Amino acid sequence: MENIKFIEIIPSDFKEIYSIEKKAYPIPWSEKIMASMMEGNEYKIKITYYDKIVAYVFMMVVLDEATVLNITVDPEHQGKGLGRKLLQYVKTELSKKGIISIFLEVRESNRNAFALYESEGFHEIDLRKNYYPTKNGREHAIIMACMLMNG
Ligand SMILES: CC(C)(COP(=O)(O)OP(=O)(O)OC[C@H]1O[C@@H](n2cnc3c(N)ncnc32)[C@H](O)[C@@H]1OP(=O)(O)O)[C@@H](O)C(=O)NCCC(=O)NCCS
Repeated sequence: MENIKFIEIIPSDFKEIYSIEKKAYPIPWSEKIMASMMEGNEYKIKITYYDKIVAYVFMMVVLDEATVLNITVDPEHQGKGLGRKLLQYVKTELSKKGIISIFLEVRESNRNAFALYESEGFHEIDLRKNYYPTKNGREHAIIMACMLMNG
C-alpha cells in the first residue's frame, strides 16, 4: 500500500480506533481501557492511508524494555503487509530510543499473528496457561520476546 503514514495517536482518534477494535476482536478491549490508553503516556502509533486509520499499536515502555499491549490492523486491510510494516516501524523507532527488548503476548490460536512475530525476530519465552478468556472457555498465552540491536 502506497501513501501510508506513521503518526502518533492522539485522544481524538478514539472513535475511529475503537470501531476498528470492535471489528477486529471477538473480545475487544473495553471502551474504558481503550479510553485510558488513548489518554495515557504509552507509546502509540497509527498507520493512516489517505487520512483514514488502518492500523494501530499501543506499547508500554519501561526503562529499556517495551511491551506490545495491542497491535491491530483493520480487518478490511489485513494481509496486505501493514502489520509487518507497523512492527518494523516500532522496532526501528524504539531501537533509536535505546530500547533493547520488546515483549508481547499472543493467544495460542492466533497463528497468523504468531507467524508474523516469529518472522520479525520474536521467539517464544514462556507460556501462560489458560490466560485468555474465549467465547467458550480459556486458552493459553504465548509470551514472546525480541532483542533489538543497538549499535
Ligand atoms: C495479526 C495482524 C496484526 C497482522 O497484520 P496483517 O497486516 O494482517 O499482516 P501482514 O499482512 O503484515 O502479514 C504478516 C505475516 O502475518 C502472517 N499472516 C497475516 N495474515 C495471514 C493470513 N490471512 N493467513 C496466514 N498468515 C497470515 C504471515 O506470516 C504474514 O507474512 P507473509 O505475508 O510474509 O506470509 C492483523 O491480522 C490483525 O490485526 N489481526 C486481528 C487482531 C490481532 O490478532 N492482533 C494481534 C494480537 S496479538
